[in-house]
Amino acid sequence: MDKFVIRGGNPLLGTLRVSGSKNSALPCMAAAILTEEEVVLENIPQVRDIETERKLLTSMGAEVELGYGRAHHRTTISCRVLSDPTAKYEIVKTMRASSLVLGPLVARTGMARVSMPGGCAIGARPIDLHIKGLETMGAQIAYEHGYIEARAERLKGAHILFDKITVTGTEDLLMAAVLAEGETVMENCAREPEVTDLAGLLTAMGAKIEGAGTPTIRVQGVEKLHGAKHRINPDRIEAGTFLIAGAITGGDLMVTQCNPQHLGAVIGKLQECGVRIEATGEDQIRVRSEGNLKAADISTEEYPGFPTDMQAQYMALATQAEGASLVKENIFENRFMHVQELVRMGANIRVDGRTATVRGKTPLSAAAVMCSDLRASASLVLGALVADGESILDRVYNIDRGYERIEEKLRGAGAQIRRMGNVFS
Ligand code: UD1
Repeated sequence: MDKFVIRGGNPLLGTLRVSGSKNSALPCMAAAILTEEEVVLENIPQVRDIETERKLLTSMGAEVELGYGRAHHRTTISCRVLSDPTAKYEIVKTMRASSLVLGPLVARTGMARVSMPGGCAIGARPIDLHIKGLETMGAQIAYEHGYIEARAERLKGAHILFDKITVTGTEDLLMAAVLAEGETVMENCAREPEVTDLAGLLTAMGAKIEGAGTPTIRVQGVEKLHGAKHRINPDRIEAGTFLIAGAITGGDLMVTQCNPQHLGAVIGKLQECGVRIEATGEDQIRVRSEGNLKAADISTEEYPGFPTDMQAQYMALATQAEGASLVKENIFENRFMHVQELVRMGANIRVDGRTATVRGKTPLSAAAVMCSDLRASASLVLGALVADGESILDRVYNIDRGYERIEEKLRGAGAQIRRMGNVFS
């Protein structure tokens, strides 16, 4: 298993380029199921979850070409033949976002078998709202041998009110609605830029969608969709992680190929902490800090609020800010796995239910730590970048799920970080 060895203390300087959004790319790849024609997606990030999605689609009979480097991070997907509309346990257990194929499979083939996702490191994460929505659209649902089986000759437009805001739930049902008969009105939808990105692709494929990016989405179902070419949005979470890397190390960084408009809550909070941030042009942000950070509270919320996917990274920053920062996690019930590891590096953090109190500034000292989930791993990288000495981060496959060659990118800005395969194991 790969590890990262990180020696802290260098301010990050120069440029960090942001890759395409993993959380946009996953639903967009699933959207290819909706047509017999080819879907071409550009700016696909080279991360493990994308490989997993490729495996998932190929296991159903799709042809998926995935090219990086000179091929410009492009994937071409053809779902002309879908011989086995099943998302198998072996794949779903490694990536919960596999449930995104449920809606498009029923809409296109009339049937889907998707393994029920098990528990997850960051909380229960059920998909009951996806299933309830499909039932409202006329699907028959059965549970067998750990699988959800959904069947419908043709889904029917319906009125769907989400009890709770769900990102992949909104995306899954949007993909079901575009081929349903008649109009679907979805209320209390997620407004995340990834939903808007998916709606952009679906519209290019011939879907009729209004209101993506607002709480109410209206869809007029069509008989058939065609192929399309689409460029994936920049990854706002990778960009936010880089902003914190610049701030925590007292650096001067230009984060490029990002969309500053998607980062409003994160930028606002960093400014409150005393970080100097300017959007310079449409797609880059300069971040500077002299290390005199002030504490500030955050509370995670659905977009456009402060993203839960940035909570762990923000907590690393809070350990280096003067004063007490309250970090409240409202989206997932168990998303503080990074706390114990940061504490092992010298942080002063107390957790009480969904709120963590971080008291700073505490000097961090290098340690051997374990990466748990994806964003927790990113927070440990950030902590290690300012820790005194050499930290060893174990299980970095968690970070490879969603960050493209993060060690190479950070090294390019002056970080002392290297990947070791099978060291000390
Ligand atoms: C997506 C993102 C993930 C991010 C999360 C919240 C992808 C691939 N993943 O995950 O990175 O952290 O949004 O921004 O885009 N819920 C239910 N029933 C459901 C669905 C969700 O109760 O059927 C609950 C969840 O347990 C959670 C909350 O709703 O408490 C939000 O979850 P959701 O937005 O669905 O997260 P994901 O789409 O899984």
